[in-house]
Amino acid sequence: MEFGAFKNRVLTSFHLDLNSYKEKQLKRRLDSYLSRLKMANYGELFNRMTANRVSYEEFLDYLTINVSEFFRDPQRFSDLQKEHLPELINSRNSVKIWSAACSNGSEPYSLAIIMEELGLSGRSKIIATDIDRQILNKAERATYSKESLKNVSAARLERFFSQAGTSYALKEALRRKVTFRHHDLLSGEYDNNYDLILCRNVTIYFTKEAQEVIYRRFNNSLTNGGLLFIGGSEMIFNYKELGFEKLSTCFYRKSAPHNKPKI
Ligand SMILES: C[S@@+](CC[C@H](N)C(=O)[O-])C[C@H]1O[C@@H](n2cnc3c(N)ncnc32)[C@H](O)[C@@H]1O
Repeated sequence: MEFGAFKNRVLTSFHLDLNSYKEKQLKRRLDSYLSRLKMANYGELFNRMTANRVSYEEFLDYLTINVSEFFRDPQRFSDLQKEHLPELINSRNSVKIWSAACSNGSEPYSLAIIMEELGLSGRSKIIATDIDRQILNKAERATYSKESLKNVSAARLERFFSQAGTSYALKEALRRKVTFRHHDLLSGEYDNNYDLILCRNVTIYFTKEAQEVIYRRFNNSLTNGGLLFIGGSEMIFNYKELGFEKLSTCFYRKSAPHNKPKI
């Protein structure tokens, strides 16, 4: 089976749109998966994936890069905590937050820590989603290595975690602040009325066309004046066209309705 045919069969059978991932990167990753499984071609891989659900989940877990850490790009999280969130909450009774492509939970739990420190836990709701069910299970367990906590200060570590051998478990009270759900950014429905959306270090894997669709859909999911927080190495060049204004590095605000383009 050719690569193109494999992608189309995966789309039909699993509703997973591999055509929206950057082709070269995707092919490299899939080829290394084939050699890891000692398989000769994509046909064999497809048969394995259709044989049982676990094989499909394993494939997805390999395909997706789950690297994450608490307070990734600390300066940007500090901007969020010191400037953007206080400003956002000023004009709202509560904030609804979406951590899209949340991986092992480091990102939404970093947010939960910030909300707790700002005294806003009771006025916020954090939804965290990812396409990879295996990583969502890990996120719910909320146990981390020292490495993923390298940006967490000693005071935060002491307040929000308990040490269990060489790893650190997030305290139950904070774990309860985040609701995890399965969601595919390429094929899923987008919920509405978010005041803040974090989508960091995932759209880099998608084609330009897919990125644009996702940013438009985020715009549609945000409340007026709501914020989009993207990754440190990312940039939205045509943000105006997509209905945003740029606030600061990594932060875009949904423009007022009269400036908003038609979807
Ligand atoms: C590199 S991690 C980024 C995690 C976190 N946002 C951060 O910045 O640290 C990328 C995540 O995107 C998820 N992902 C990949 N494709 C996706 C899709 N189509 N829909 C939702 N999540 C996806 C992966 O499973 C992975 O957990």
